[in-house]
Amino acid sequence: MRVAFIQFNPEFGQVKQNIARARSLIAREKAELYVLPELCFSGYTFISKEEAFSLSEPADDGFAINEMKSISAELEAAIVFGFPERSGDDLFNSCALIRPDGSLRIYRKIHLFMHEKEWFKPGDKPFEIHKLNGCQIGMMICFDWRFPEAARTLALAGAHLLCHPANLVMPHCQTAMITRSLENGIFSITANRYGHEKRGAYENIFTGRSQIVGPRGEVLVSASSGKDEIGVADINYRESEDKAISLQNNLWADRRPEFYHRENYGEKRS
Ligand code: ACM
Repeated sequence: MRVAFIQFNPEFGQVKQNIARARSLIAREKAELYVLPELCFSGYTFISKEEAFSLSEPADDGFAINEMKSISAELEAAIVFGFPERSGDDLFNSCALIRPDGSLRIYRKIHLFMHEKEWFKPGDKPFEIHKLNGCQIGMMICFDWRFPEAARTLALAGAHLLCHPANLVMPHCQTAMITRSLENGIFSITANRYGHEKRGAYENIFTGRSQIVGPRGEVLVSASSGKDEIGVADINYRESEDKAISLQNNLWADRRPEFYHRENYGEKRS
């Protein structure tokens, strides 16, 4: 299965222009699955909830969703991309998986970062697995990397591949995602943006370096920190079903969940 990340530097609020840019990057290489960054057509650095609201769209009939549906059908490829999702009066930082038959699945970011908490509600639905040509896909968004339970939950549910749209501003995610792949024996695609957004009192510098990682923690392809790029890899997703670590060790069979409950360690929530 040929999979790809798309890395670019969206212009804040320029949805049509950003879609055109993504479209031209997608056209560079044929793949079965393209993963785009978090909030990749709206931009990231909102200055108010009203502004985030004005750039949001409903999952069932949004402009960006419909554009991605038409690209997906035209290229017979699935697309995962991040967008601000409007649901009644609420906003979620979401990503969509669109398959060539027009079917749509949504993940709402569970672990919100910094000011996102002022505009978005935290995701209210569990992590789910979706099938694409036999490959079991899980979605997580950006800061979810900092919570190993996100990738673990998806891996235990059977994910072969994590799709991880991102707008990374902190160090270490790219190296942590190598660990997320290694510790779960699964593929991961982190599609990150690059560039600088300064809006009012808010400023973000995004780190690029999108990557595709294999189930043994091997980096299959990685991008620069500041250029438009498409990165592609041919993966055999079935490799992630082999959880052997050594002749006598297995990632799943050797787990000791009876010792993982916090009550065994007297942990307290603050
Ligand atoms: C982030 O979660 N966008 C840092």
